[in-house]
Amino acid sequence: MKKFLIVSGLAALFLACGGGEEKKSESAASTPAGAEPAASAPASGGDASKGIGKFTKVDVSPTLDVKMAESGQTVFDVKCAACHKLTDERLVGPGWKGVTTRRTPEWIMNFATNVDEMLAKDADAQAQLEICLVRMPNQNLTDDDARHVLEFMRKNDGVK
Ligand code: HEC
Repeated sequence: MKKFLIVSGLAALFLACGGGEEKKSESAASTPAGAEPAASAPASGGDASKGIGKFTKVDVSPTLDVKMAESGQTVFDVKCAACHKLTDERLVGPGWKGVTTRRTPEWIMNFATNVDEMLAKDADAQAQLEICLVRMPNQNLTDDDARHVLEFMRKNDGVK
């Protein structure tokens, strides 16, 4: 709970990240502290679309796992909603609408559990950081939390 309060506080501070504006502003001139030039290949030697981290193969079913999605919604409410909307509107971070079509399941789960390394090395993660100018803090998700949030994102994207 304490973490939620801290996160909510952060969100209030960072509302400047384009909240309400639909268009992505590409005009952000400065490179955020800590951002490195885009790495061309993921450290794990795998496929860049999977991001960087331990998830190299995530099985998703064509249909929704309702239970998992419900549990993922709880994780969202507590740990993510302060910064992410479910629409395509940016809050502190990008809106989640369409995220499961923009990104692979592996990328999403690696990002959610290994955010610092992803922001340091993954070109797609860095591109978001350049727009948002706020580093997503590590949310300390368990692997199950991450999988459940992914299922909730799929539900948000219309998987039935
Ligand atoms: C303090 C604000 C904050 C919180 C809380 C937060 N995020 Fe983020 N998130 C961001 C920002 C900002 C970005 C864009 C990348 C960056 O700048 O670090 C982002 C990007 C993402 C992306 C990539 C989206 C895309 O379109 O590429 C995913 C996936 C994501 N977050 C998942 C989560 C999950 C899951 C949680 C909750 C467990 C969460 N985030 C909590 C701020 C936050």
